[in-house]
Amino acid sequence: MKRLLMPAFLCSLAAIMTPSIASADADGSAILQQQCVSCHSITGPAAPTLTALWQKKGPDLFYAGNKYRSDWLETWLQKPKRIRPAGMFYMDHIKPGEKRDMVDESTLKEHVKLTAADAKAVVLALSAMKTNSALIKAEKHDASIAPGPLGEMMFDKIYGCMACHQIEPGYGGVTGPEMYTAGKRLTPEFMLSYIRSPQAWDPKIWMPNKHVPDANMQKLVNYTIHLSKENFDE
Ligand code: HEC
Ligand code: HEC
Repeated sequence: MKRLLMPAFLCSLAAIMTPSIASADADGSAILQQQCVSCHSITGPAAPTLTALWQKKGPDLFYAGNKYRSDWLETWLQKPKRIRPAGMFYMDHIKPGEKRDMVDESTLKEHVKLTAADAKAVVLALSAMKTNSALIKAEKHDASIAPGPLGEMMFDKIYGCMACHQIEPGYGGVTGPEMYTAGKRLTPEFMLSYIRSPQAWDPKIWMPNKHVPDANMQKLVNYTIHLSKENFDE
């Protein structure tokens, strides 16, 4: 019995003395493995069934390099702010209200925060994940097509996007991510591609394909970019 004690003691000493890989050299891939994969998929594929979709604990990150603007990503990881007003899956976070269901804030958790050095390293690792580059290459953003009043009308009424997306804090649907910072968060090509075919990115997602013609898609995307010029983060 005594013989066993020694190696066990040495083992625990080694565990105390080995610094975590993450803090030692801020290796982004190691941080993702240690702190993120319990909630996010970094290898794919997207949820193949509705049950898998509803059980997702966080958005997929395996195409992060196709999706995010890295400057936004670096800031957000240090100071995360809610993007989905009713969390990942709204059914888990709503309660009956007087007139209609409302978001039950008490069920929503704060997101993990990273230090500046760790955020930088993680952004490097995430930016290299470009599984869906073929979808992105098929898109061409035209910033010269002004959204005009039609941009908002299309978003709010014609295509009914506002039923699921907020266009300012507290105004719009809660079952999708808010759109008033989308222009800062997402690459325009990702937005175009996602609107063209949400199911090409996430086969079971409940965002409908509205078969929006190209010119109108540019207007919708430029409308969200326009919305993001207002600083809602203050
Ligand atoms: C406990 C589960 C959990 C862990 C652990 C976690 N996340 Fe998240 N993450 C979430 C949820 C839930 C959201 C959606 C938040 C929202 O919409 O407000 C999210 C959102 C994000 C987003 C924004 C994505 C988008 O498309 O809207 C990024 C980027 C992100 N997480 C990166 C990370 C990284 C990097 C780590 C590890 C350092 C991490 N997360 C750890 C649950 C988690
Ligand atoms: C029935 C609800 C619903 C409608 C209607 C809807 N969406 Fe979505 N939308 C979603 C959901 C759900 C997601 C993906 C959420 C996620 O990844 O967590 C999404 C994702 C997006 C994204 C990617 C955002 C991100 O942060 O990843 C964009 C851009 C978008 N929608 C724009 C639109 C536009 C434009 C319309 C109208 C043509 C529209 N949506 C209509 C529910 C909806």
